[in-house]
Amino acid sequence: MSIGVFDSGVGGLTVHRALVQRLPQADFIYLADQANAPYGGRAGEEIVDLTRAGCQRLFAAGVGLVVLACNTASAIALRRLQQTWLPGYRASLGRPINVLGIIVPTIEAATGLPWEHEAERRGEKVEALDVLGVFSTPATTRSRVYEIEIDKRKQDLAVFSEACPELVPMIEADAGPVDLAKVVETHVEALKTRIGRYPDRAILGCTHYEIVADMFRAALPAGTPLIHQPQATADSLELYLQRHPELDPGTGGGRRFLTTGEPGPQNGLVESFWGGPLRFEAA
Ligand code: DGL
Repeated sequence: MSIGVFDSGVGGLTVHRALVQRLPQADFIYLADQANAPYGGRAGEEIVDLTRAGCQRLFAAGVGLVVLACNTASAIALRRLQQTWLPGYRASLGRPINVLGIIVPTIEAATGLPWEHEAERRGEKVEALDVLGVFSTPATTRSRVYEIEIDKRKQDLAVFSEACPELVPMIEADAGPVDLAKVVETHVEALKTRIGRYPDRAILGCTHYEIVADMFRAALPAGTPLIHQPQATADSLELYLQRHPELDPGTGGGRRFLTTGEPGPQNGLVESFWGGPLRFEAA
């Protein structure tokens, strides 16, 4: 079997790269749903349907495990698919399969606590409050997933989200660095105005934003810690595979890159992030 990595577009490559570094022998198939990107402005039902279709495409290509390298799909679709679709689909395929998201590992990294941990609500006054800024797509921001899940675990961490609707389309369309940096700065300043100060740390809660992480670093006060989803996801996947030997990730070191959009080379911004040419096959 192999591991599938799914995103609406090229953002999931940031996670894919960390997974490949961690599991170099494993076989990977990446699927970008570029025909339907961006997901962030879509209605919830559409995001669920598109995510299900992406997973089905990857399972049809032989993967045993799909990592949703997309916050929007993880926040909006994952639980629904795990509850209502995956058990029946698994039975129909007659082999072990699963779908994992990237919100759980990100929240574990942000809180330093395991997912199972729930804060005791003692009603005590919280003395010191750290402020966490989350930059994400409109759909992820609307879901309030980071606010809700972090509040359950850590009440001394206040979460403020900022939706950045322009960034995914700009990154997919190879926008120039000056325009991208301007948009990033605008959103960092908007978040600062809303909080009343800069956040103490930040999550780039859309995998596309990792491609412009340097611009977020430049717009935030020097040294603001960023929680890195690719790293957190790689840590978590490695442990998951140890606990689930039935989901054999393969040993051939295979790498395939599929797109529902235009096959061929990816744009310059992506190639400079990737460090070389990258060709996608038609999905
Ligand atoms: N990379 C996806 C994410 O992490 C982008 C979603 C979109 O297409 O808007 O949310």
